[in-house]
Amino acid sequence: MAKNNIIDVNLFGQEIGRLSLDEQSGRSSFQYNPAFLESNKWMNVFPETGVLKRTPHVQLFSQFDNTTFKGIPPQFADSLPDKFGSIIFQAWLESKEETEITVLEQLAYVANRGMGALEYSPAKVLPRNTTIDIEKIIAVLKDVLDLKKTTAEKELSAAALINIFKLGTSAGGARPKIVISESKEDGSIIPGDLEYSDSYKHYLVKLALDDEASYPREVVEFCYYQLLSQAGITTMPCHLIANKHFAIERFDRQEGKKQHVLTATGLTGWDFTATTDSSYENLFRLCNFLKVPHAQLEELYRRMVFNVIFHNTDDHLKNHSFIYDPIKDAWNLAPAYDVTFALNPLIAFKKTKRALAINGKRGAISEKDLLKVAEAFTIKNPKGIIKKITALLPVLENLMKQQQVPRAVAESIMDRLIKATL
Ligand SMILES: Nc1ncnc2c1ncn2[C@@H]1O[C@H](COP(=O)(O)OP(=O)(O)O)[C@@H](O)[C@H]1O
Ligand SMILES: [Mg+2]
Repeated sequence: MAKNNIIDVNLFGQEIGRLSLDEQSGRSSFQYNPAFLESNKWMNVFPETGVLKRTPHVQLFSQFDNTTFKGIPPQFADSLPDKFGSIIFQAWLESKEETEITVLEQLAYVANRGMGALEYSPAKVLPRNTTIDIEKIIAVLKDVLDLKKTTAEKELSAAALINIFKLGTSAGGARPKIVISESKEDGSIIPGDLEYSDSYKHYLVKLALDDEASYPREVVEFCYYQLLSQAGITTMPCHLIANKHFAIERFDRQEGKKQHVLTATGLTGWDFTATTDSSYENLFRLCNFLKVPHAQLEELYRRMVFNVIFHNTDDHLKNHSFIYDPIKDAWNLAPAYDVTFALNPLIAFKKTKRALAINGKRGAISEKDLLKVAEAFTIKNPKGIIKKITALLPVLENLMKQQQVPRAVAESIMDRLIKATL
């Protein structure tokens, strides 16, 4: 096979298998490292959801040749840059006058800097630096995303882009974001791509680029997070930087260890951009398949109700993740993330469709629909849950006031939420 067509996949310091991809045909293969299989360690790292089997034989895949999976099994496609990361990747390549890069080369750049615990080798080595300046990163980002609209400044050098490339391509999603680490000792901020020790707090920072001038999206997201704990929903501690950037602690870096995390899409191969498998019922089934404790199904139910009442319609299959526990060889629901009012409240959208169907519906969800799901998955007291979460509506209003969200934005959000009350 030609050079660069194979890459090693490592987890917790062990080679667990090798991945190959033929870009021309869009076919990939994965072979577990037989020594890893024989060790009978971490039997469940890739649960048998119908994608990878625990066999020493080479497994072939042709069904992932699309924009979501880029040819490779979903477990590894989860490590690839998403919408925002891809824009940065492209800008960086252009600055180096390279145009084409293979999917496996992208994984070689991800190397040991990715989200979760999967690592890829041999790695493409990038210079290591120890300081970052968020404002500088934002200035470069504005150029990359063409927000400055000054042609003179558009030619960006690889040197200018290196930081944003290293810190901005690992996390998925569409919004601009970087990873940083903050020293527990002196509060100093360093790049968040390599360090994962317990001497630091590790954050994902969603950056406010002021591109939607009158709508402080990250501040609204911050307000939503304050509601989550009151709704009985687990999330990570978060805060605002400079009153506008949204920083949330990473659940894939805890107690100085990398956590093996996969999205619902990464675990199953359910395409988060397609309606085919995108439903809450499927998420509940996945929870049952993974044998997560029933309390976590109840938590998922609260998230579903919250997302309906608070209009988080963008709750797709990559906005739900699971964390692997290597000691118990078991999976758990990850803390909630990307929970916010999903659309720009200053724009009058006619009809919006939910990413995840509930009782077969993507809009006009009623209490009856929510109760049906509770019945199917034996969730106790659903009416009480709906009531409790609905009662948080005025709390959001207060939070937005406290955070000085512009009145037009707050009013528009509250207006839409209240009109749609169940
Ligand atoms: N607190 C967190 N810890 C670890 N990973 C996270 C956390 N929050 C989000 N992620 C990961 O980063 C990705 C992007 O974050 P998200 O909030 O969904 O951004 P976007 O609004 O751009 O979709 C998520 O899909 C998830 O995989
Ligand atoms: Mg997201």
